[in-house]
Amino acid sequence: MLDDLDALSHKAAGIFSELAARCIKNTGRFTVALPGGSTPRRLFTLLSERTFRDNIHWPKVELYWGDERCVPPGHQDSNYRLAFDALLRKVPVLEENVHRIRGELGPDEAAFKYEQTIKESFNVTGAPVFDLIVLGMGVDGHTASLFPGSPALEEKTRLAVAIHEKEPPRVTLTLPVLNNASNVMFLVSGKEKAGVLSQVLAGRGEYPAALVRPASGKVIWVVDKEAQVAP
Ligand code: 6PG
Repeated sequence: MLDDLDALSHKAAGIFSELAARCIKNTGRFTVALPGGSTPRRLFTLLSERTFRDNIHWPKVELYWGDERCVPPGHQDSNYRLAFDALLRKVPVLEENVHRIRGELGPDEAAFKYEQTIKESFNVTGAPVFDLIVLGMGVDGHTASLFPGSPALEEKTRLAVAIHEKEPPRVTLTLPVLNNASNVMFLVSGKEKAGVLSQVLAGRGEYPAALVRPASGKVIWVVDKEAQVAP
């Protein structure tokens, strides 16, 4: 049982680091999609600190995002900026391996260009196999920018789509991509999520987070004790 967000973040950093070492040893690279929101900030900071930073071969890490708000990269709401401030500027990741979603182009063009970037860098025509996709979960059971009742939940072929129903609009990876990953790691902290989390883990309700069921990949739930106690 993980006591709090700090313990959750340490656990997640250990999993990230172990997976990176294994994937880089086996394939020469580690492809990972990062989340936004507040939960991962501590994880990002930990990965930038010596203990974890020096055990990850950053030039072989290829970074993507699970979703992004359609704002400039320096905007306070940008998921890229969150990762840049807490992690990217402190580790020797190669610029050409940082594939941010170019939200400033607007939702439709950004989604199209992001899908092209993924197809080119994975050299695929369909869904890529990410080594790891890190996700959060909202109190409504959303994940990435896949919200309850969104038409994006029905997308079967596109890899990334525009989300117009939010302000600012967003771009998100689709379920075919999330469900093709080798590993999906959810980070869930806080008592306000306990009710939805227990529903999601029981497979109840039409929560987007419950629809993340990789065909052959592994789902890892990293949850602190407050989020585990159903109200
Ligand atoms: C985003 C995230 C989103 C987030 C959840 C949980 O862009 O905001 O991708 O899916 O993971 O909303 O957010 P918190 O970590 O802030 O609770």
